[in-house]
Amino acid sequence: GATAPATQRLGPDGAGIAEAARLLRTGGLVAFPTETVYGLGVDAGDPAAVAALYAAKGRPRFNPLIAHLPDGAAARREGVFGDDALRLAAAFWPGPLTLVVPAAPDGRVCDLARAGLDTVALRVPAGALARDLLLRTGRPVAAPSANRSGRVSPTEAAHVLGDLDGRIAAVLDGGACPVGIESTIVACLVPGAPVLLRPGGLAREAIEAVLGRPLGAPPQGAADAPAAPGLLSSHYAPRAAIRLDAEAIRPGEAALLFGGAAPPGLDGAAARLDLSPSGDLAEAAANLYAGLRRLDASGAAVIAVMPLPAHGLGEAILDRLRRAAAPRPAG
Ligand code: TXA
Ligand code: MG
Repeated sequence: GATAPATQRLGPDGAGIAEAARLLRTGGLVAFPTETVYGLGVDAGDPAAVAALYAAKGRPRFNPLIAHLPDGAAARREGVFGDDALRLAAAFWPGPLTLVVPAAPDGRVCDLARAGLDTVALRVPAGALARDLLLRTGRPVAAPSANRSGRVSPTEAAHVLGDLDGRIAAVLDGGACPVGIESTIVACLVPGAPVLLRPGGLAREAIEAVLGRPLGAPPQGAADAPAAPGLLSSHYAPRAAIRLDAEAIRPGEAALLFGGAAPPGLDGAAARLDLSPSGDLAEAAANLYAGLRRLDASGAAVIAVMPLPAHGLGEAILDRLRRAAAPRPAG
């Protein structure tokens, strides 16, 4: 039988970036680090490459992708920016913010990457490696997180290979991602307050301070037509079950801790991990996905998660943990 072609592991130097850009320009699938998580990139203007990306991820249905650009000027060619979008882009790009805006009529992000919508999700990631890759590629790069659909997002090249080795052309290895949780997604589509579609690596409070008013909430649509379509199903799921708001640890559970706490029963835990012993939410976000993988590897059937603060990056951390705890599709 045919064996899967090996996935190249590229170093974060000029040769590695050049090869990654060449692969992207010729329709290849290349995982690369951003400040949030590793993305699985393809040329956003190439429908065949985008279709191959959906197949490699095993997305159950087509879900719009975020187009990544090297700078704000390149992003503004792909979308229609009103005052709020311009202000947010100026304040937070490059950085962990994705803006959903009307797609520019002459934009290059193909229909399939936008899942047929007339809007487009745009992001200018921070980090020299991502920026160099995007500049060299010279076209918008569509990139979901570089994991199989429904799995925990990757924050290291080894996580990417664990999920996708043999299914993608290459991974550009830039070490661990400093933010560790996906970008915050804000839609700027209609007059009125911009809408928070997904909490993420940029705290709501920082965005609202720049806007001078609160973000809106997404409309509560039908379960299979949410405002950000990827968001409602079980997601970010380790193999173990997740038990939220655990005040005490039951024997044999793995314990996900925060702030140096030692809840009752901790001595009987199968494994333990403190996301930030000093209680720093940015550090906790950076450690979240690798921590879930580590606790999962202990073989415990349940990961007990102690209560966490809900402000700042805590909103995104709790969002991902709730999704990890959500009922999973059978099979
Ligand atoms: O940090 C990140 O955002 C990472 C890195 C790789 O950049 N990317 C990422 O992509 O998290 P992904 O595909 O896992 O999540 C993209 C989300 C999905 O929930 C999708 O539904 C939403 O963005 N989205 C994309 N285009 C949209 C649009 N036009 N309207 C509403 N939601 C959109
Ligand atoms: Mg994802």
